[in-house]
Amino acid sequence: MPRFYVTTPIYYVNDKPHIGHTYTTIVADILARWHRLIGEDVFFLTGTDENSQKTVQAAHQKKEKDIQKYTDQMSSMWQMTWDSLGFSHNDFIRTTEERHKKGVIKLFEKIQKKGDIYKGKYKGFYCSGCEAFIKESDLARGKCPLHKTKPDFIEEENLFFKLTNYKDKLLDHIKKHPEFIQPETRRNEVVSYIETALEDVSISRPNKGWGIPLPQDPKQVFYVWFDALINYLTGIGYGQDETKFSKWWAKDCPIVHLMAKDIIKFHCVIWPAMLMSSGLKLPDVIFAHGFFTIDEEKISKSLGNVIDPIFLSQKYGIDPVRYFVLREIPFGQDGDFSTKKLEERYNGDLANDLGNLVSRTLTMIEKYFESKVPAAGRPTKEEIETLVSSTWKKAEQGLDKFQFDKVLVAIWQLIDFANTYIEKNKPWELAKKDEKKLAQVLYNLTESLRHIAWMIYAFMPETAEKILSQLNVLESERKLSFDQIKKWGGLKPGTKIKKGKPLFPRI
Ligand code: MSP
Repeated sequence: MPRFYVTTPIYYVNDKPHIGHTYTTIVADILARWHRLIGEDVFFLTGTDENSQKTVQAAHQKKEKDIQKYTDQMSSMWQMTWDSLGFSHNDFIRTTEERHKKGVIKLFEKIQKKGDIYKGKYKGFYCSGCEAFIKESDLARGKCPLHKTKPDFIEEENLFFKLTNYKDKLLDHIKKHPEFIQPETRRNEVVSYIETALEDVSISRPNKGWGIPLPQDPKQVFYVWFDALINYLTGIGYGQDETKFSKWWAKDCPIVHLMAKDIIKFHCVIWPAMLMSSGLKLPDVIFAHGFFTIDEEKISKSLGNVIDPIFLSQKYGIDPVRYFVLREIPFGQDGDFSTKKLEERYNGDLANDLGNLVSRTLTMIEKYFESKVPAAGRPTKEEIETLVSSTWKKAEQGLDKFQFDKVLVAIWQLIDFANTYIEKNKPWELAKKDEKKLAQVLYNLTESLRHIAWMIYAFMPETAEKILSQLNVLESERKLSFDQIKKWGGLKPGTKIKKGKPLFPRI
């Protein structure tokens, strides 16, 4: 069975999940659901990044002395949020777990054996907001350009990773695999960074009582990014369950890392070099999407505009939120989140276009055929059938290229077509004069609804399930292969439909 492995970044526990974090996780969930639908064995990993100094600071701010207790509480809050949003991750990795620590040490020892670790002195700036060493030339008037805070000046004896050993190899890999870093703007950014600014990186920090101690020097802990990146291996069994690990970190299993553009240097430079050094394959795609603003403002606690995803999903339902963010912002670009725009799309695309199509079609089946799907005598292949099959093709191609907005546009063209098909054929008039044609038209519409439900399934799983259960095929269709699902004519005449409440009550 083909496999597919998709990851989100692991999120810092010093803060609550907001719409930005939720966005990346939604996309990972869409990919996971889509790849399962097309018949692949999928592993979807998310989790929390806990060994950071930010965790310690946040615990102190909350007057919590027991850092592990604070971390446990925060991590379970992230897990509960992801569960209540219905994400279909297969595991949730925490970097304070034993299984993770073991894997970190294993990978470190491999890199060390390769001769890529040396002792050195780090003298320079460190931004604790970024958890990153920062060059003087990158400061803006002495401050971190991202966090607007003054970085610490530190002088430490650390272990270093010979990142510069991998300069040519990295450039060569990026050149040979244009799909490795996406979108192209990010690839160019990474290439220029490697060409002009690559330096060895420090991978340890003084042990202040939090973090993973180095095996041979407990006075030091691993630098949090070195530890965090390894979650992509430990989450699938590295250092623990080699059979599981070799199933997912394998040549023939596409590996996709998703994140926003803020953390590409770690993922596209340091991480691949760590993997090269330890002899492991590189991920196949690292896709960095854009940054979200809210009503054109940066998301920030101090601005008080942090949108809680649970609140949003309670107000609108999670499916409309998923639909909105994917439809509104081309994946890869920056975008703005506004509840006004969300409500416009909710009332327009969802309530009017999709919701009405489902309710009108099923009302007519109730009215004219006693709730039973009529048999379609099919003399010729109708346009709607051809459109269904070309929409499937667009969905497959679009999802392969991470063009989620394009896929949704194509599906909505089909929905629009179906609504117009009703207007053109006027079933209420056919009911008076041409029962055969009426049966044909209503069969075509209900069968199109079945296809639409599966097409939106990865994007809006709850809605898809509601439609399929109104068509009374949810359970039987779960067992079908993707090819069977895509075939025209899957809906059996005589199936008794069960019209439900409106899918999207108007706001
Ligand atoms: N812990 C690191 C990642 C380690 S991965 C080995 C980290 N955590 S984070 O909590 O700060 O999450 C950053 C990620 O959250 C971004 O890459 C992105 O996926 C998501 N986003 C956070 N804010 C965002 C926006 N405003 N807009 C879009 N995505 C955002 O970095």
